[in-house]
Amino acid sequence: MGQNGFMVTTSFSICFFILLMLHTSRGDMSYSIEEEMRRGSVIGNIAKDLGLDVKSLSDRKARLDTDRTSRRLCDMNLSTGGLIVAERIDREEICGPRVSCALIYELILENPLEMHRIVIQIQDINDNSPRFSNDQIKLEIGESADKGARFPLDEAHDLDTGVNAVQRYFLDKNDHFKLAVNTNTDGGKYAELILDKELDREIQQEVSLLLTASDGGSPQRSGTAVIHVTVLDANDNIPVFSQAVYKVSLPENSPLDFVVVTVSATDADEGPNGEVTYDFGRVSDKVKNVFSLEQKTGEIRVKGQIDFEEESVYEMRIQAKDGLGLVSYTKVIIEITDVNDNKPEIFIKSLYNPIPENAVIGTEAGIINVQDNDSGENKNIRCSIQHNVPFKLVPSIKNYYSLVTTSELDREVVTDYNITITATDEGSPPLSSSKTIQLSVSDVNDNSPVFDKQSYSAQVTENNKPGSSICSVTARDPDWRQNGTVFYSLLPSEVNGVPVSSFLSINGDTGVIHAVRSYDYEQCRSFKAHVVARDNGSPPLSSNVTVSVRITDQNDNSPLILYPAPAGSSIMTEMVPRAAPAGSLVSKVIAVDADSGQNAWLSYQIVKSTDPGLFSIGQYSGEIRAQRDIVGTDSMKQNLVILVKDNGHPSLSATCTVYLVISDNLSDLPEVNNASYDEPSSKLTTYLIIALVSVSTFFLTFIILVVAVRLCHRRKPRLLFDGAVAIPSAYLPPNYADMEGAGTLRSSYNYDTYLTTGSRTSDFKFVTSYNDTLPADQTVRKSPSEAGGEDLTGRMEGRQCNEVKVVLSISIAVLQMERSL
Ligand SMILES: *[C@@H]1O[C@H](CO)[C@@H](O)[C@H](O)[C@H]1NC(C)=O
Ligand SMILES: *[C@@H]1O[C@H](CO)[C@@H](O)[C@H](O)[C@H]1NC(C)=O
Ligand SMILES: *[C@@H]1O[C@H](CO)[C@@H](O)[C@H](O)[C@H]1NC(C)=O
Repeated sequence: MGQNGFMVTTSFSICFFILLMLHTSRGDMSYSIEEEMRRGSVIGNIAKDLGLDVKSLSDRKARLDTDRTSRRLCDMNLSTGGLIVAERIDREEICGPRVSCALIYELILENPLEMHRIVIQIQDINDNSPRFSNDQIKLEIGESADKGARFPLDEAHDLDTGVNAVQRYFLDKNDHFKLAVNTNTDGGKYAELILDKELDREIQQEVSLLLTASDGGSPQRSGTAVIHVTVLDANDNIPVFSQAVYKVSLPENSPLDFVVVTVSATDADEGPNGEVTYDFGRVSDKVKNVFSLEQKTGEIRVKGQIDFEEESVYEMRIQAKDGLGLVSYTKVIIEITDVNDNKPEIFIKSLYNPIPENAVIGTEAGIINVQDNDSGENKNIRCSIQHNVPFKLVPSIKNYYSLVTTSELDREVVTDYNITITATDEGSPPLSSSKTIQLSVSDVNDNSPVFDKQSYSAQVTENNKPGSSICSVTARDPDWRQNGTVFYSLLPSEVNGVPVSSFLSINGDTGVIHAVRSYDYEQCRSFKAHVVARDNGSPPLSSNVTVSVRITDQNDNSPLILYPAPAGSSIMTEMVPRAAPAGSLVSKVIAVDADSGQNAWLSYQIVKSTDPGLFSIGQYSGEIRAQRDIVGTDSMKQNLVILVKDNGHPSLSATCTVYLVISDNLSDLPEVNNASYDEPSSKLTTYLIIALVSVSTFFLTFIILVVAVRLCHRRKPRLLFDGAVAIPSAYLPPNYADMEGAGTLRSSYNYDTYLTTGSRTSDFKFVTSYNDTLPADQTVRKSPSEAGGEDLTGRMEGRQCNEVKVVLSISIAVLQMERSL
C-alpha cells in the first residue's frame, strides 16, 4: 500500500514538473488500455475527445511529444484523430514491478499553441507465469531433523503484479513435508518446507518434491520447481556383524597369510558413519601373535605358526567400529584341527651299555620311550627295530619298551650293535623317526687260548748252544685285553727224573722255546714237554700242548776199539797156526761207536802191516783173515796197524795194533815178543786168563742179577743220583730197571753199539752195564786217538741218559782165546 502511495506521489511530481515546463496546458486526457494490445488498436479518439475537428488537427500541426528517451509506443492518426498502439506495449517492460503504469504524452497543437497531456494507463494482464529462479531447489536435510523443522524455499516471481503475481504455492503429496506460505514485507509470497515426518536416510536417501507456484490471474498461470531433498546421514546406526559368532576350523600349519575367516559388519550409515573398521577386542597376546586382522576388510589371516599341540582353540572378540566410534562386537572361535606334523620322538631312558657277552637271553639292555605330540590317531605309535640284531622290543607300560636280547651274545663275533629303533605313527601319511643306539658287548673271559697246532715238534742237533731257540708255540685267545692276553709256561714235569725246566725254557710272552743246555744224543734222544698257555682273565683259562723235542745225532764220538786193547797199555798177541790156510780167520778187531746211524757205521782197514798181502781185514766186519796160505818162510811176528773209521762227516777214527805170532806152540809166544813187548807179553797169558775170567764172572753175575731182579719185582721207585740232577728211576726204560737191585750200579749208560760179528746184517745186541767195580781199566780202553785218554766209565759219569746198551760179541773172543791157548 505504501508502495502504491509512493508511486502516486512520484507520478504527481512528474506531472507537476511537466506542468511547470508547459505553462500553458488545458486539462489531461486519460485513457486506459491493457498491455499487449495489437498494433494499430485504437486507444481513443483525441479529436473527438478534444472536441476538435479532425481537419483542424492536421492544420494545427497536432503532434504527440514524448520523453525523448522513451520509445514511441502510441501514435496518433491525424486523419481520424484516433490514438493508436504503435508498438507492443509490455507493461512489465515499461514499468517493471510498479503497480501503476502509465504512458504520458503531450499533444501539442499550434496556432494557437495548445498542449494536452495524454495519460495512458496500462492495465496489467496475466501474461506472465510465476517463475522460480531455479528449476531445481536443492535442500540437504539431516535425517536427525525434528518434525516441524522449517526450511525456507526460494520465492517464485511473477512479472505480473497484483493479483497476477504469485498468490499460492502447492507441494506434491508426499510423506514427509508440508508447505507453509508466508508473505514478505514487500508483499511477495514465499513458501517454507515443513518437516512433517522424520526422515531416515537409511530408508530414503533423497526426496524429490514438485513445488508449484500459481498466480491469481485469470486464467491462472503457474510455475514449478523441483525440490531435491538430500537426506543427510546422522550416525544413528551401529555396525552389525553378519554373524553373532563365527566358528571355523583351521588345520594346523596353515600357511602364513591364509585367510581364516572374514568377519563382516555393515553399518547402515553413510560416509564415514558407515565406514566400518575392524579390530581385535580384548584378546590375548597369543592370539595377536598368530592372527592378524585386516582393519578394512575384516579378514583374519594366519600370521604365525599354528600348532595344534600348543593351542587347539582360539577365541577372540572382534570389534567393528564406524567412523564416529559406534562399536559392536562379535566372537570368533577358531578350532585348530590336528595335522600329523609331529614325528614320533624316541627317548632312550636307560641303556645298559656295554652289555656283557654272557647276558642270558631276555636280558634287558635298555628302556625306550616314544612320544608323539599329535593327537588321536596321529599319536598312536608303532615301534620296531631291525631284524638282524639279536634284540627285540618288548612293549611295556604305555609307550615304554624294553630292549631285550633274543639270543646269546658273543663279543668275539660281534663287538657292537647298531640298533636302529624306528617309531611310526598312524597318521596319514604316517610319520616316522628313528634312532640308532650303539650297544657294545663287553668281554667275559669265555675263551681259552688255542694253540695253532695240536702238537709241536722240534729237532735239535746235539751239542747245541745253550740258550738257542728251538721252536716256538703260539696260542690265540680271542677275548679282550687281559682276557685274551696269553702267557706261556712249561708245565712242570720230568724228563727221566729231571725237571723239564732244566732242558727247556719258554719265553712267557712270545712262546719261543729255548734249550737250556747242550743236549747229548747219546744220552737222550727225545723228550716231551707240555706248554701251558694261560690268559690273564680272572679266573684264567688255559690249555696245554705237547712239544716233542727230538735230538739228532752228531758225529761226536770216535770209534772205540774194544779189542784188541789200544797200544801202550797192554799187548795182546794173537796166535796164528802155521798151517792156517788162505782165508782162515786170524783175529777180529772189535770197535764200537757211541754215535748212531752213519756216525756209528764203522769200517776197518789195515794201514800198516809187517808183510803186506799176507793178511786182509774185512772192511765192515773187522775180521782179519789170511790172504794166502802161511808158509814157513813167513816171519813169525806179524804186526798190523788197523784204522777204524766211522762214516760221519767228518769221520772220526781210532787205530789199534794187532800183534800176530805165527806158531803152533804157545811157548813160542815169549820168543816172538821182542824187547819192547817183554814186560807185558810175559804176563799176557795171565792177563788174558784174568780178563777172560773176569768177563765170564761178570757175565754170570749179570745174568744172575737179571734173573734175581726179574723175580722180585720193583716195589717203589728210587732216586738215582747222577750229578746234580735227580732222575726218578721210574722213568728208566723197563729193561734197565732191573739193574736197580745191583747196588753197585752207580750210573747207567746207554750205548747202542753195533758190533760187526762177521756180517753187517747179523748185528745183535747185548745189553749190559758197567760200573766202577768193572776191572775194565785194562780191557776196555778208549782208543789212544781219543783226547785225554779218559776212562770210559769216568767219561760217561756225567751223562744223564740212562739207556744202557752194550753189545759185545764176547763169544767170539772167548772162542779165539781158548783156541789160542
Ligand atoms: C655302528 O655305527 C658306527 C658309527 O655310525 C660305525 O662306525 C660302526 O662301524 C657301526 N657298527 C656296526 C656293527 O655297524
Ligand atoms: C674279562 O672278563 C671278566 C669276566 O670273566 C670281566 O669281568 C672283565 O671285564 C673282562 N676284562 C675286559 C678287559 O674285558
Ligand atoms: C692239558 O690239556 C688236557 C686236554 O687238553 C687236559 O685234560 C689237562 O688237564 C691239561 N693239563 C693241564 C695241567 O692243564
